[in-house]
Amino acid sequence: MDKNNLDRRKFLKNTGLAAVAIPFLQNSCTEKTATAKEKNTEETFEFAFLTDIHIKPEMNAPQGFQMAIDKVNELQPDFVITGGDLVYDAMRGDFDKCEPLFNLYKEMAKGFQMPIYNCLGNHDLFAIYEESPESAEHPDYKYGMWERHFGKSYYSFDHKGWHFITLNSLDVTPNKRYKAIFHDAQLDWLKKDLAKVDKTTPIIITTHIPMMCTYTQLNGGNGRVVENAPDAFKILENHNLKLVLQGHIHWKEFGMVNDRFHFLTGGSIAGNGWKGRRHNTKEGFVKIKVTGEDFTWDYIDHGWEAERLKIGVGTKV
Ligand SMILES: [Fe+2]
Repeated sequence: MDKNNLDRRKFLKNTGLAAVAIPFLQNSCTEKTATAKEKNTEETFEFAFLTDIHIKPEMNAPQGFQMAIDKVNELQPDFVITGGDLVYDAMRGDFDKCEPLFNLYKEMAKGFQMPIYNCLGNHDLFAIYEESPESAEHPDYKYGMWERHFGKSYYSFDHKGWHFITLNSLDVTPNKRYKAIFHDAQLDWLKKDLAKVDKTTPIIITTHIPMMCTYTQLNGGNGRVVENAPDAFKILENHNLKLVLQGHIHWKEFGMVNDRFHFLTGGSIAGNGWKGRRHNTKEGFVKIKVTGEDFTWDYIDHGWEAERLKIGVGTKV
């Protein structure tokens, strides 16, 4: 058994998550496994999930991201999914500062030797904060800059019998802060998208802000999850949801709900603003191996912690 499996078991046991029984779907996991066997869909593939990259020219960030790109290329997954916060930071910025950040990310991401599917994070929202010199009338405001560079901020694609959905988990409050929500137009789109997907097709959702997260249970406070995530779960309830991939918190957590689906918050590439670990989670990314209707995962250390310690940046914890 690999270390992550042991960590997962220990974590679920310690938090009691393994015993949580939340009614979600009527279908049982066993039925789905039988379906997979009937269909003989034991296809195997791997993909990488890199979240919270926070690219900027300072703090050796390009060096750290390049090491992650090199590690992904060494592993040769079929594709890469990112979890948002591609740049740092567009929320407070002006055009002349933000546009080069997106260009830097795009230039560096060309180094991946496989397709990349990007997700939007709060730091990628252009000029939404009060202190930004740009107005809400700017064509790149909010989602505009991200969409001009990467296309739609919510979309889906299929790979070897699995359906992947990337969601936009962000909007802006009237007092100009970001808020974690799936807006109505997107939920309508999600219904339409799922109407075209067979009920037995395994589904993976990617969202920057978590739909489920243990952060507040452990640390108090509120927020840190999409406020109307239950509306999205309701839309998904008669489908074969397998996994929700999440970013934003810069920590690593993995949970299973009711023998049905898992949620995985995938650490971060940037750690604590490129200064070291965040929440004791080492900088890294997730490699997921899919076999039939099941998956396993590993958290990959691309060597950045060792490298930054060598050049005198940050500490281990
Ligand atoms: Fe982030």
